[in-house]
Amino acid sequence: MSHYQVVKGARDIFPDEMVQWKYVEEVVSRLAVTYGFSEIRTPVFEYTELFQRSIGASTDIVGKEMFSFQPDPGGRSITLRPEMTAGVMRAVLQKNLLAASPVQKLYYISELFRKERPQAGRQRQFSQFGAELLGASSPAAVAEVIIFMMHVFESLGLKGLRLRINTLGNRDDRQKYREALRAYLAPSFDRLDEASRERFEKNPLRILDSKNPEMQDIVAGAPKLRDYLSSDAVDDFEKVLAYLSGRGIDFQIDHLLVRGLDYYSYTAFEVTSSELGAQDALGGGGRYDSLALELGSPSEVPAAGFAVGMERLLIAMQKQGLFQQQAPEGPSVFVVVQQPEHFDRAFEIAGKLRRSGISTVIDLARRSMKAQLREANRMHAASALFVGGDELASGLYALKNLVSSSQETFSLDGVVTFLQQQTPVNGNLR
Ligand code: HAM
Repeated sequence: MSHYQVVKGARDIFPDEMVQWKYVEEVVSRLAVTYGFSEIRTPVFEYTELFQRSIGASTDIVGKEMFSFQPDPGGRSITLRPEMTAGVMRAVLQKNLLAASPVQKLYYISELFRKERPQAGRQRQFSQFGAELLGASSPAAVAEVIIFMMHVFESLGLKGLRLRINTLGNRDDRQKYREALRAYLAPSFDRLDEASRERFEKNPLRILDSKNPEMQDIVAGAPKLRDYLSSDAVDDFEKVLAYLSGRGIDFQIDHLLVRGLDYYSYTAFEVTSSELGAQDALGGGGRYDSLALELGSPSEVPAAGFAVGMERLLIAMQKQGLFQQQAPEGPSVFVVVQQPEHFDRAFEIAGKLRRSGISTVIDLARRSMKAQLREANRMHAASALFVGGDELASGLYALKNLVSSSQETFSLDGVVTFLQQQTPVNGNLR
């Protein structure tokens, strides 16, 4: 057995795909700034209680999908983060950032870990980009995070998306509804599948968005959450929807949308893509005002946010052919060593070019000239600089444009000046 297998449910991102990631990350970061979000990074692990208290003990994530371990004997259990919202809230509360500025708008592009059964679009290590808006949960704040998310999709050119949205009401609304739902489901308890039976006591709302058609049949006649909403929740939801309509965003109200994390109240939403097959959820989020209280904050922190799966986003974009222009960029110059004995001098020249900010490659495998030129073409080098005995003696070098095949002769300083004019200088590396 070879010992170079990637862990099941994890994957490598090689340079040709990395170009696509960088492109998406740049669009996300640029738009985040446009919307006034600043970037945050939090640790990859947190104390396990953080997730138990926030995501909810009865959820699939906390129940069976967390990678948890105890680093010190008898010490506190820690968990590889399965999502970002809890960690961001923890960081903001711990640093008391809301005292300095009452609204914090943070975004992230980060790795997460969930012990799920790997399949297309579902991994054990995956990434999300997302945003959290803490300190405000007015309809405008909720609308702002949704509009930001949809703006990213629009800028990337992604089509075929469906935004579903619901209001989960406030805590009292949900409590009353939970009781009504249990009363309705109790006579059919024997017909419930195992997952739904488990949810019956702890979180019957989750039975509503079961993918099992038999469960969907049972649920079809169930009381509706919308009939249990307070007028405050209804008004709030209508205002959110009005902002979205005002911005020209299409959505579908889905009264069965619940989401798999317990911290939501009022608005919750999910975006699916027709490109994604079984794992069609591209992103989701909502409002989570009571999360801070669950974490022991003395007062509620109104909040809303979303997260989008990066891998799924890339799959959907690849399927729609949105990456054609993102070919990896080759170096400006490939230093071709004509005779092996001149390698060290050529290596010095490559160093000088790099210090001048010119992206330069030299063949460290010390292959034949023909092989070097083949390699230069393979990596889409813009030009080749030939270094041999004559060049070193005269101080004059042939620089060949590998696209047009035209060739010019320069002194070394002339090469630098010429290439600096041709290509952007990669920062001042001197
Ligand atoms: P979530 O719905 O659990 O929400 O995850 C958001 C997105 O992450 C999913 O729609 C999906 O694209 C991606 N995702 C989740 N699990 C996997 C997986 N195993 N493999 C690949 N992609 C996956 C949250 O995480 C919330 N924190 C969102 C949020 C932010 N709510 C408020 N603020």
